[in-house]
Amino acid sequence: MLYLIGAGLYDEQDLTLRGLKILQSCSVVYLESYTSLQASHADLEKVIGKPVIVADRLLIEQKADSILSAAKDSDVAVVIIGDVFGATTHTDLYMRAHAAGVPVKVVHNASVLTAVGEVGLELYKYGKTTSMVFFEDKYKPATPYHVIAENRARGAHTLVLLDIKADEQRYMTVGQCLDQLLLLERELGLGVITDDLLVVGCARLGAPDRKIVAGPLRDVIHVDFGAPLHCLLIPGNLHFVEEEVLALWKR
Ligand SMILES: C[S@@+](CC[C@H](N)C(=O)[O-])C[C@H]1O[C@@H](n2cnc3c(N)ncnc32)[C@H](O)[C@@H]1O
Repeated sequence: MLYLIGAGLYDEQDLTLRGLKILQSCSVVYLESYTSLQASHADLEKVIGKPVIVADRLLIEQKADSILSAAKDSDVAVVIIGDVFGATTHTDLYMRAHAAGVPVKVVHNASVLTAVGEVGLELYKYGKTTSMVFFEDKYKPATPYHVIAENRARGAHTLVLLDIKADEQRYMTVGQCLDQLLLLERELGLGVITDDLLVVGCARLGAPDRKIVAGPLRDVIHVDFGAPLHCLLIPGNLHFVEEEVLALWKR
């Protein structure tokens, strides 16, 4: 059996009881380490009482066969920070397991996709989620800019997920993301990203020191959000209740 276990957002204490019991009974446990970031791998080992193999993108995406062949004869778990389906790559592992005839069970947990609910923008009113990658000389995809424009045209909110380069320990900040959006605005000039655009920066949602700041881009771009992970929200049309909650994060 292959178990895909959501770990939640902050630390090993966020595992569900169901997830914990399964992990204690599995013969091999992997921790997926490249689509998110959580407190400590050692603490996870302590709480489940066995070694945990840190699995990078190569292992999960290209060497999935070795995980699946072990799961044919024994119980193998892959722990995924947040929720199992909060990143697109894990659907691939799920489908490969089905194709290989390996039974799969999923234990869900909290995801950044729902943790942003704390900001007060109605979750049902979000449009498409988008991701901002670290720009390179010849690689500056404009997708986030266009997604924000489309969502705003419909009055919908946008969640922008920020790039992680786990092998280089690089995690995009809210400020870096806003800088890159301004660069796209200068290139495309559609008037989507302006200095007075209302934006909300979030850091470490689910952690005791989570930080949320709302305000015009010109102010939020200078805020120090501290340690990763960060994400950015661009509100669409606001109901008065949403406005009231957003006021909590303005300064
Ligand atoms: C692929 S997504 C989410 C993966 C995870 N499986 C989940 O369900 O939450 C990873 C991105 O979400 C955002 N993110 C994840 N956890 C976060 C947190 N606790 N606070 C703020 N942003 C977070 C960051 O922008 C990060 O690069």
